[in-house]
Amino acid sequence: MDDLRKNYLDRIAVAASEAALEEVRIAALGKKGEISLKMRELGAMEPAARAAAGAALNVLRDEIDSALRARKAALGDAALDERLAAEWLDVTLPGRPRRQGTIHPISQVWEEVTAIFADMGFAVAEGPEVESDWYNFDALNIPGHHPARAEMDTFYMHRAPDDNRPPAVLRTHTSPVQIRSMEAQGAPLRIICPGRVYRADYDQTHTPNFHQVEGLALDRDLTMANLKWVLEEFFSAYFGTRVRTRFRASHFPFTEPSAEVDIQCSFEGGTVHVGEGDGWLEVLGSGMVHPKVLKAGGIDPAKAQGFAFGMGIDRIAMLKYGIPDLRSFFESDLRWLRHYGFAALDVPTLHGGVAR
Ligand code: PHE
Repeated sequence: MDDLRKNYLDRIAVAASEAALEEVRIAALGKKGEISLKMRELGAMEPAARAAAGAALNVLRDEIDSALRARKAALGDAALDERLAAEWLDVTLPGRPRRQGTIHPISQVWEEVTAIFADMGFAVAEGPEVESDWYNFDALNIPGHHPARAEMDTFYMHRAPDDNRPPAVLRTHTSPVQIRSMEAQGAPLRIICPGRVYRADYDQTHTPNFHQVEGLALDRDLTMANLKWVLEEFFSAYFGTRVRTRFRASHFPFTEPSAEVDIQCSFEGGTVHVGEGDGWLEVLGSGMVHPKVLKAGGIDPAKAQGFAFGMGIDRIAMLKYGIPDLRSFFESDLRWLRHYGFAALDVPTLHGGVAR
């Protein structure tokens, strides 16, 4: 009995894990454990010897059992102490700063332009970027032989030889949305359409994808005077300073008369300052909507007339925020985006002022 006791209590004392302890428990107290087998042998003993041996075995079993429990608890405490030491962390340390993304200048200007025209009662209209050649050209009085249709400017969608659907293009301007808006709303009408446009061209001032904002206002008696007022209001709000405009006679198939519009600026010190000096910078095309275009949009030219304009968003973004190269807008250079981008909460307002 003493040998048994010593053997098991020693083994329990050196068991280094719960698994090792379990092995000892099975060896002693398991169904086929040494103590259990000894207890089974009691049945074959004389009553007097059985009572004495039984009592002693019970005591021994309880002793081993409580030694097992005590050792298990000690191992658990040690493991917890170890984890507490290893997983300790200082919650008072300052956090690691996380880089915030920025709003792209095009998105920012898009929102600014929308806010200013919305204030003058213009709603935002949209149209598809993959457009039929009818909306992009024919409906805008651009006949089949017009140079704007030449392959070098326009991206045509691929058509299989046996595909007889009319040609589709990546829209070369936002003007097709004029037609779509007339069809959808009729006159009177006051919309702008900011959007992506595409032309096959690439240098410091041209990229194959760029952005325009179209404007269209139709009513009974709108004139070029209304156009000029709207544009001067717009540029003054956008640049945060009074900006004069200069209208130069021009030609677009979809307007008559047509004008290219310049804004006043100075080029002093190699930088452009809008609203000062006696220089001029071209920023948009415009005119009175051609009667054929009204008809294509389902509007009777005897009952409504109005003006339209198309302005480069990238262009006016470069001017306001001093961005020298158009191509940089499309390069996703993180250093550039951090420098020229806007904080997400820097919401455009009508009174935001100039940032040059
Ligand atoms: N669509 C013309 C362009 O892309 C601009 C324009 C729009 C001109 C509306 C007149 C009227 O150049």
